[in-house]
Amino acid sequence: MKKDMYILGLETSCDETAAAILKNGREIVANVVSSQIESHKRFGGVVPEVASRHHVEEITFVLEETFKQAGMSASDLDAIAVTKGPGLVGSLLIGVNAAKAMAFAHGLPLVGVHHIAGHIYANRIVKEMAFPLLSLVVSGGHTELVLMREHGSFEVIGETRDDAAGEAYDKVARTLDLPYPGGPHIDRLAKEGEATIPFPRAWLEEESYDFSFSGLKSAVINTLHNANQRGEVFKKEDVAASFQQSVIEVLTVKTMRAAQQFQVKQVLLSGGVAANQGLRKALEEQFADHPDMELIIPPLQLCTDNAAMIAAAGTVLFEKGKRDGLDMNGYPGLDIEQF
Ligand code: KG4
Ligand code: ZN
Repeated sequence: MKKDMYILGLETSCDETAAAILKNGREIVANVVSSQIESHKRFGGVVPEVASRHHVEEITFVLEETFKQAGMSASDLDAIAVTKGPGLVGSLLIGVNAAKAMAFAHGLPLVGVHHIAGHIYANRIVKEMAFPLLSLVVSGGHTELVLMREHGSFEVIGETRDDAAGEAYDKVARTLDLPYPGGPHIDRLAKEGEATIPFPRAWLEEESYDFSFSGLKSAVINTLHNANQRGEVFKKEDVAASFQQSVIEVLTVKTMRAAQQFQVKQVLLSGGVAANQGLRKALEEQFADHPDMELIIPPLQLCTDNAAMIAAAGTVLFEKGKRDGLDMNGYPGLDIEQF
């Protein structure tokens, strides 16, 4: 009988300090996330120096809590997986150094994971992967369509040329005086409003799977500014609904077109914006007519940053024989196709 495999995941690339233990790459044994959102709220975004300081303060507690939840110790582990990039370098280094110290102290193998590979592998906790598959990755820093033909291989077939989807959400939210991060607030307001304002959709060239959200963001800001000067007021709910519809339409249409072109077996939704109720519903509706393609959407707590997803991707890389040495660094601009 095959022995069970336990991998510890660590994630500190942005504003969550997270650790998790995963059994056999798919079963969560412990999952702890310490969020710093409250500290960054008053600045309207993540302040890198504040973020790394929080990670230093939190990482030991988060690790202790993870082992406590699991009822395990480091000697029960098979390997340690950690986000090595992309992200804020000062934040990445806290996780990377904690992972290296533990690996050295306990003689454990070390596997560096790409943050977006982690987001995609959050889906494997829900359902075993079937290839080829397509993942729509929508987070605060990334908007990409990633094609996977096998485990651990990532081909970016389209990506944003300017703002990421989450970034556009956060900036539009700020214009509407909503707190950071704005995505969930826009999502909530959109449900109560009507998409009455015709904001643009950036389709780009006919064959392109790339995205662009900066024009939409500017259109929202200009519309509100002009209305303000004329003394008119738009309902925040309607602005949110109109903006959200524009984002969702482009994301779903391009995802469906790519899924059909590459004849994928599965479509996976990944990244923080995957928590968006409107996007989840729109994709479910679109793919309901295509039973040949299975749509997978992770539960909310696996969409936003967490370490279970890093352990999930790390398990596959570990099984493929990937290892990093104690010279591993944090890589803020790490490329998913080459890491
Ligand atoms: O993946 P993530 O947790 O961090 C990054 O790796 O960037 O994504 C964070 C982003 C933020 O921009 C946040 O506003 C957005 O995800 N987000 C949402 C929702 N929940 C989180 N955007 C739209 N609707 C949501 N419900
Ligand atoms: Zn993320």
